[in-house]
Amino acid sequence: MKIGIIGTGAIGSTLAKKLSATGHQVKVTNTRGMSELQKIAASLGAAAATIQEVVKDVEVIIFSIPFKVYKDLSKSLLQDVPEDVIIMDTSNYYPLRDGELPGLEGKTESEYISETLGRPVIKVFNNILEYTLKHKGKAAGEEGRIAISVAGDNEGHKKVAAELVDQSGFDTVDGGSLAQSWRQEPGTPAYCTELNAAEIKLALANAQKGKAPAIRDYIMDKIMNSKTFPSNEELVALNRSAAAGNLR
Ligand SMILES: NC(=O)c1ccc[n+]([C@@H]2O[C@H](COP(=O)([O-])OP(=O)(O)OC[C@H]3O[C@@H](n4cnc5c(N)ncnc54)[C@H](OP(=O)(O)O)[C@@H]3O)[C@@H](O)[C@H]2O)c1
Repeated sequence: MKIGIIGTGAIGSTLAKKLSATGHQVKVTNTRGMSELQKIAASLGAAAATIQEVVKDVEVIIFSIPFKVYKDLSKSLLQDVPEDVIIMDTSNYYPLRDGELPGLEGKTESEYISETLGRPVIKVFNNILEYTLKHKGKAAGEEGRIAISVAGDNEGHKKVAAELVDQSGFDTVDGGSLAQSWRQEPGTPAYCTELNAAEIKLALANAQKGKAPAIRDYIMDKIMNSKTFPSNEELVALNRSAAAGNLR
């Protein structure tokens, strides 16, 4: 497939590398000048593109940028992008990092992103840590394969997202509609807890509406107050424990 990725940070670069390695034609963009972007793109097996070019002549566009940045993107960015192009969103909202955002209250994070972009989106690759995505992928059917959830309102688009997840080394479970995607937001049991498909299905079902923000903020506080940045194992353990209600 032809895939455009906006953002070459922790998640965007890992996705670009994995998806180009599996034979997709990937182009990437970020905020750097073209010469630096070209070096980054080459290291990922992708082509460098401006943000206007990255959304042209592709079948999938993956946004992997900080949550607070979406509102500042050009309102005409997706204007000429055909309806059948699949828009994926990997983002997560952290108030400490992203600030208060008018229009977010009362919506799921991806409903807000969808409204901001003026297009339906698929929420995917948001509930997997960078380290897990980079290092813990396994072949389909292999024992202990980690799963992530895919949420959105277009079943065809979700199917394509699930295929990309599979090619990246992970199982998927259905995360429901965009309105239900709060079940995979930060602070929920399905968020970055390295579960397999059966476990994450249960975690999504067990999520309790309204509880996640306090858990998310507790986890962020713990991380900010750690003397050293937690390892992947420590982060997963913290996410699991806090989501289970241990907030002391
Ligand atoms: N890190 C994780 O473990 C993780 C896991 C799951 C989901 N997520 C979510 O996925 C999203 C990306 O996370 P990340 O950790 O990959 O972030 P990151 O490392 O901070 O990278 C962000 C990328 O977005 C680019 N960017 C920022 N503003 C842009 C703009 N206006 N136009 C084009 N590119 C722009 C940055 O460009 P420059 O390189 O030029 O600065 C950078 O490449 C976030 O919403 C995050 O919450 C993160």
